[in-house]
Amino acid sequence: MQAHNLQIARRNLHLCRFCGICRDAVSCPTEPGSVDCTGCGACHLACPYEAIEILPREQAHERMRLIKVIIDGEIFFVPERITVSDALAFAGYQVSDPCGVGGCFACALVIGGETKPACVTAVAEGMKIDTMTKPEPLRVVSGFAPHVVGGVGTPHTLKNYTRPVEVACFLHGCNYRCPQCQNHVMAFTGGVPMTPKSVAGILIGIAEAYHVGRVAFSGGEATLNREFLIKVIKLLRTRDSDLRIHVDTNGSLLTTDYIDELVDAGMTDIGIDLKALSPDTFTKITAVSEDRERFLKISWDAVKYILDNHDIFVGIGIPYNRALMPMEEIRAMGEKIAQISKDVQVCLLDYRAAFRRRDLVLPTVAEMAEAKEALNSVGLRNVIAQTVEGHIGP
Ligand code: SF4
Ligand code: SF4
Ligand code: FES
Repeated sequence: MQAHNLQIARRNLHLCRFCGICRDAVSCPTEPGSVDCTGCGACHLACPYEAIEILPREQAHERMRLIKVIIDGEIFFVPERITVSDALAFAGYQVSDPCGVGGCFACALVIGGETKPACVTAVAEGMKIDTMTKPEPLRVVSGFAPHVVGGVGTPHTLKNYTRPVEVACFLHGCNYRCPQCQNHVMAFTGGVPMTPKSVAGILIGIAEAYHVGRVAFSGGEATLNREFLIKVIKLLRTRDSDLRIHVDTNGSLLTTDYIDELVDAGMTDIGIDLKALSPDTFTKITAVSEDRERFLKISWDAVKYILDNHDIFVGIGIPYNRALMPMEEIRAMGEKIAQISKDVQVCLLDYRAAFRRRDLVLPTVAEMAEAKEALNSVGLRNVIAQTVEGHIGP
């Protein structure tokens, strides 16, 4: 057995701005610096000011003892004060925890008789961990509200700024680590999870109250935790056969079988954010390096597969800020999209200063118009640009 992940969080008070996110929004049984910290890293991912370091426990002069856990009926001895994910890795299990903050519940297992996220749950003496039983899919969801503009997968003809066009909710947890995340509290925090039934019920209730025929899932990354997303879409479709069901995603998990399953379940509209064309720009925007080629390929392939095989509405999002992406790459992305379809809706998104990139300068309307012109010049006919003064239509 190799002790490979004995870590602890420490807060640097010189960098901390006391925003409260690590205290109020992070799924944490303790606090940075506490002897009970598991080193799960959730607070480190969520802190906008990069004030929380994750250190090896040895550096924190911690002495560890081994405790007994029971995994699928078998006894293992693992270090105390680690997460269930780390305990499973110690015991030789394959572990997948794409968000790592207790948001997506893709890593959820039956732990001590309850469904809990392995990535942020601390081991305890005698804990029973069951990897064989499939728990009911759950997910942390927030921000249920009617929206007047919609997202990347909302047809531009519906965007009106005056009356609700769809009811959206935000699914917590993301597999990207974008330093300028435009929705970081949803992407990097956990909370109390909800069932697909309760999420579907709230969405339908708000949609009826506002006389809106569309619901939308955004995030975070909506497609993490496939069972949850499929189940909630099926429930919505059963409740209302005419409802438009819209998913906004980074596309990185959209294999062809997942796309087919989403469409079969009832998804009618999809917005896919293509973050970049080149791997280097992709890493600059997402802070993902290990899987970057794979994620880039899957997201670009998803656009082509959906347009070639499914009759649903597709919108493509491209983040634009000159500090993140050169204009030549915008043009090259446009050329590649135009080879797939010249008529697909492409929405340029003006990335503002957010999360850890508080230095970003919001693109001007003229800059967004220039980026739109670059896309139009390569043959795209349906480009819209989100700007500080509203959308520039095609
Ligand atoms: S999230 Fe970061 S800045 Fe905010 S209180 Fe915690 S350590 Fe401080
Ligand atoms: S979120 Fe995780 S790493 Fe941070 S203090 Fe809590 S247990 Fe430690
Ligand atoms: S990976 Fe554990 S909740 Fe998302």
